[in-house]
Amino acid sequence: MTEPLWTIDEIVKATGGRVKGPATRAVTGISIDTRTIQSGDLFVPLSDKRDGHDFVAGAFDKGAAAALVSRNVQLPNADATLIRVSDPLTALEDLAREARRRLKPDAVVIAVTGSVGKTGTKDMLRACFSAVGKTHAAAKSFNNHWGVPLTLATTPRDVDAAIYEIGMNHPGEITPLAKMVSPQIAIITTVEPVHLEFFSSVEQIAEAKAEIFYGLEPGGIAVLNADNAYFSLLRDRATRVNAQVLSFGRAADADVHLDDYTVQGSGGHVSATVGDHDISYALEIPGVHVAQNSLAVIAALHASGRDVMKGAKALSGLKPVAGRGARELLKVPGGEVLVIDESYNANPASMRAALSVLGDVPRDEHRRRLAILGDMLELGADSDALHAGLSESVETAAIDLVFLSGPHMQKLFEQLPDATRGAWANDVEDIADAVVAALHPGDVVMIKGSLGSRMAHVLAAIRNKFSD
Ligand SMILES: Nc1ncnc2c1ncn2[C@@H]1O[C@H](COP(=O)(O)OP(=O)(O)OP(=O)(O)O)[C@@H](O)[C@H]1O
Ligand SMILES: [Mg+2]
Repeated sequence: MTEPLWTIDEIVKATGGRVKGPATRAVTGISIDTRTIQSGDLFVPLSDKRDGHDFVAGAFDKGAAAALVSRNVQLPNADATLIRVSDPLTALEDLAREARRRLKPDAVVIAVTGSVGKTGTKDMLRACFSAVGKTHAAAKSFNNHWGVPLTLATTPRDVDAAIYEIGMNHPGEITPLAKMVSPQIAIITTVEPVHLEFFSSVEQIAEAKAEIFYGLEPGGIAVLNADNAYFSLLRDRATRVNAQVLSFGRAADADVHLDDYTVQGSGGHVSATVGDHDISYALEIPGVHVAQNSLAVIAALHASGRDVMKGAKALSGLKPVAGRGARELLKVPGGEVLVIDESYNANPASMRAALSVLGDVPRDEHRRRLAILGDMLELGADSDALHAGLSESVETAAIDLVFLSGPHMQKLFEQLPDATRGAWANDVEDIADAVVAALHPGDVVMIKGSLGSRMAHVLAAIRNKFSD
């Protein structure tokens, strides 16, 4: 029989808690949300808009094995197992540290941060390392003060590789999380103007990303993007803590070198050099930015002595997901349009990347490239300039028509030549109407904006208008 994730005794020992009720049931998972809790989970009540303790009884109704609690709660039955601690989040962190400590000595622990591409890179790491060993990573983008400890605390003790996404909105947030993860390999995908509202400069963002090196184990490796403007700064900060640097990118001296990226079908094909080895692999998720992220994954496979070829093959099995580049053919009168749904979120870097991917879709007299873009939020004082600055990418990608919604996007509208101006409106509803009216069969339509800009409404409007 495989060992459980946690025994009650282990949880008590790691958290210093006091157990009330039977201590026999095995804990097979951890949950902070009774909407998704599974039977056998340990329930950890966190406090957000509501105190999670209010949901403890519900957790037991759904089969929780035990719950961490810091106050008295109503129980559905007398034999429910409670572990009394002074604070459930702190106890979750204790479990996280114990989960990290008990990993096999030859397990590789990888932390990923960066302004964009963390989740995509985490998913690629999971696919590649799963091809060469037992691997743990969170299913979602769990990268904050509870997401990282939750992902750590749910790491099975016998994995060969464990992968953790670490995010931040403010300086100082990465340090404690990086120390908790204590990775042997720390990846920084790239540094870009994202969440700029909370920083005085992009350089400050780079410094905050460099906090990940404080968590590196002695002799650890920093995997860095050689093509990023902040590469030397990050390399310097990594070297200061005696980390070894492995770089990736197109730069001539990058350790994992991108030799060539070509569009292949709706994805891409990468040729790269790692040390003395040439490797090539297919990617079903399109874009040279994805190829760049994949190089970081190759670097991690290489640095941890895994079979790079075998790992890299797994990359072709990953597909773009809804809101993050998923493609869909929708019926319109006289034919179909291809919709690229990027509506989940946006910032200047990911907007440029998505426009470039749209520019890679072949066009002809029947196929126009339409970009439907909504405001990018949280960009602070430079926001208007960062919106206007997208005009270059629109031109490079040879976009035929651009439809824009939101007050900041008006600045981009003003920059565009008349021929590419589809329409601008303050409200996404108005822009959706304009897009629906303008569609021709054969068009390819890319929809992107910050979540708060509600660009998914445009996709819904196209579906509503033309579905039978
Ligand atoms: N290296 C890159 N350069 C530019 N854009 C990128 C890069 N990597 C990913 N992206 C784009 O950035 C967006 C976010 O990707 P992803 O979810 O992987 O990032 P994240 O860092 O996890 O974001 P979050 O902070 O929301 O967790 C997607 O639209 C993706 O296509
Ligand atoms: Mg993420």
